[in-house]
Amino acid sequence: MPFIIAIDGPAASGKGTIARALAAHYGFHHLDTGLLYRATGAKGGDPIEAARSLAPDDLQRDDLRSAEAGQAASRIAAIPEVRSALVEFQRRFAAQEPGSVLDGRDIGTVICPDAPVKLFVIASNEVRARRRAEELGADPAEMLDQLQERDRRDRERDTAPLRPADDATVIDTSHISVEEAVAAAIAIVERAR
Ligand code: C5P
Repeated sequence: MPFIIAIDGPAASGKGTIARALAAHYGFHHLDTGLLYRATGAKGGDPIEAARSLAPDDLQRDDLRSAEAGQAASRIAAIPEVRSALVEFQRRFAAQEPGSVLDGRDIGTVICPDAPVKLFVIASNEVRARRRAEELGADPAEMLDQLQERDRRDRERDTAPLRPADDATVIDTSHISVEEAVAAAIAIVERAR
């Protein structure tokens, strides 16, 4: 049985960094599921059609990390048919041996509800805005507005809203280093193995 690590949390909480580190540590596959929604939004046209016809090349576009792509992603991510079109790809990815790490918003609640490890990564608004601003070379106050708008949309949508699974462990990265966050995540995985 492949081992699945499900990681969810709001934007710029540190979940991607933890996901990459865990995948490297355990030799697991890693999927940043936000990229699927970003690529779907960036394709333009009918978002349902875009999600259904998503191809590997679509994930290679170099504008997918921008704040605009993030906003567009969170709008189309509220459409139930867009989400359902992307479920099978994610589940198939998660089924790979020897294991995988998937990070997103609904991995522990919808995509892989039976994952033996579920992490919900959070950080304060100020810390998240500062991180994203440094990453994108932008203004922290503007980033804060954008993150809060995106989080609200992700939390309040009807289909697969952002929330921790009942059996998720919360890691707050506001006041700890990347090394400490990764060590905490590894300790949680070790207890489940
Ligand atoms: O994680 P990232 O910031 O790249 O995600 C972009 C947007 O894609 C999120 O704001 C969210 O609306 C959507 N998303 C989602 N479910 C996921 C991953 C991302 O709805 N599993």
